[in-house]
Amino acid sequence: MEIELRAEEFALFRRYIYEKVGISLSDQKSTLVKGRLNKRLNQLGLKSFRDYYDFLIQDLSGEELSFFVSAISTNVTSFFREGAQWKWLENYLPALIASKREKKIRIWSAGCSSGEEPYTILMFLQHHLNDFDQWDIKILATDISSKVLAHAISGSYDAKNVEPLPKEIVIRSFEKVQMDGLIRYQVKPHLKNKVMFRLYNLVTDPFFFKNSFDMIFCRNVMIYFDDITRHNLIGRFTTLLPKGAPLFLGSSESLTTHRETLKLLGSSIYQRL
Ligand SMILES: C[S@@+](CC[C@H](N)C(=O)[O-])C[C@H]1O[C@@H](n2cnc3c(N)ncnc32)[C@H](O)[C@@H]1O
Repeated sequence: MEIELRAEEFALFRRYIYEKVGISLSDQKSTLVKGRLNKRLNQLGLKSFRDYYDFLIQDLSGEELSFFVSAISTNVTSFFREGAQWKWLENYLPALIASKREKKIRIWSAGCSSGEEPYTILMFLQHHLNDFDQWDIKILATDISSKVLAHAISGSYDAKNVEPLPKEIVIRSFEKVQMDGLIRYQVKPHLKNKVMFRLYNLVTDPFFFKNSFDMIFCRNVMIYFDDITRHNLIGRFTTLLPKGAPLFLGSSESLTTHRETLKLLGSSIYQRL
C-alpha cells in the first residue's frame, strides 16, 4: 500500500535536504519523493514519512542521506560524455604539458557518479601522452553517494557502455571478463591506481585541499542546486584553480556570476583568469 507524504512532512525533507546537500526541492517534487521513497519505507518497515524523516536525520553515517539523494536525483553518466569538451582538451593539452616542469598532473572529478568521468580523463591522457607512464597523474574523484562510488571503485562496466568506444582505447584500458555468464569490462589496474575515490559532499564538507588542481570537472552536478549554493561552490573551485586552468561544467549549465574570475571559452568550459 502506498504511504502518503503530507505537505508538512515534505517541508521537513525539503529543509533538511537543502541544508545538507544544497538541493532545492520545489513543491512539484513532492510526488517524486513520495514515489521514489515508498519502496524504501516498506523495506525499512516504516509506517509514515515522518518516521522516515526521523530515521534519516538520526543516521549519522550519512548512508541514508546518500540513499535519499540517489533516489531523488540522477546518477546518469557515460564514458566520453560531452564530446566537444574532449575536443577542446585535445587542443589545450600541449600547452598544459609544456607548462609543466615536473611531470605531474592533478585533476578533480567532482560528482563523479559511477566513475566513467574520472576513467575517461585517464583514457584521454593515456591516448594523447606518448610518455603517459612517466607522468605522475592523480585524479581525485568524489561523490556524495556511496552506492555509485562502490560501482566506481569496482571499475566494472557493462559491455554495452564500453564496446562503442574506439577499439584501441578499449584494449589499452579494460580487461574483458566473464561474470555470471555476462561479459563485463574491468578497468586495468594501471589506470585504476591513479584515481582516489572519496565520499564527499560538495556543499557541506570542508574544503581540505592543500594543493591546486590543473583542472576541475563538475559536470551535471549543480543542476539541482539553487543560485546561492552554486555561487558558493564555484567560488570555492576558483580558489583551487591556478590562472589559465579550466573548469568543466555540464553542457546545459552556465554561469551568470564570477565573471571577474572565470571566462567562458565555449562548450561550458570556463577558464580561471
Ligand atoms: C548526473 S551525475 C553526473 C556525473 C558526471 N559528472 C557526468 O557529468 O557524467 C551527478 C552526480 O552528482 C552527485 N551529487 C549530487 N549532489 C552532490 C553533492 N552535494 N556533493 C557531491 N556529489 C553530489 C550525485 O550523487 C551524482 O552522482
